[in-house]
Amino acid sequence: MFFRSKSQPEATASAQGGPAAGLARVAMTVNGRAVSADVEPRTLLVHYLREHLRLTGTHVGCDTSQCGACVVHLDGKAVKSCTTLAASCEGAKVTTIEGLAQGGQLHPMQEAFREHHGLQCGYCTPGMIMAAVDIANRKGPNLDEATIRHELEGNLCRCTGYHNIVAAVKAGAAAMGSMRQAAE
Ligand code: FES
Ligand code: FES
Repeated sequence: MFFRSKSQPEATASAQGGPAAGLARVAMTVNGRAVSADVEPRTLLVHYLREHLRLTGTHVGCDTSQCGACVVHLDGKAVKSCTTLAASCEGAKVTTIEGLAQGGQLHPMQEAFREHHGLQCGYCTPGMIMAAVDIANRKGPNLDEATIRHELEGNLCRCTGYHNIVAAVKAGAAAMGSMRQAAE
């Protein structure tokens, strides 16, 4: 796979300007930045993000769609990027953990994880936070513990015992709701 930013010449383009043999050209927006690349059809989104865009906040924990360390947002919805083909993201808007903070301010969910000590080693944390933002977007600001635990079933943490993560998600969802209200 070859990555280029939109402003760079395409070194791998064929003489006709298309992708090299066996590759597919894919263009998407990642954290607000337009990017395009020629990728192998089997290239996974997580590898595209980590190895070619150097967005290493998205982690790989299992590669089998079980742990949730690789969760990013695709057109505003949480997906496991270890089971999403990069080539299938043509025209999509992707947000990774690096794209959550705005203007030097942590996203309210990030702030809640910091405040409530919702992490220890931090390996699961990017995927956990991306999943948590998606939960709050879908379920609203008033989340109970049972809902949070149910919704986080696809995200595994080996360290924390989940108690602080649940508290963080509850507080983060409430903060997101308050922020929305203040903006209306
Ligand atoms: Fe994607 Fe574990 S690396 S779910
Ligand atoms: Fe270590 Fe969750 S904080 S895996």
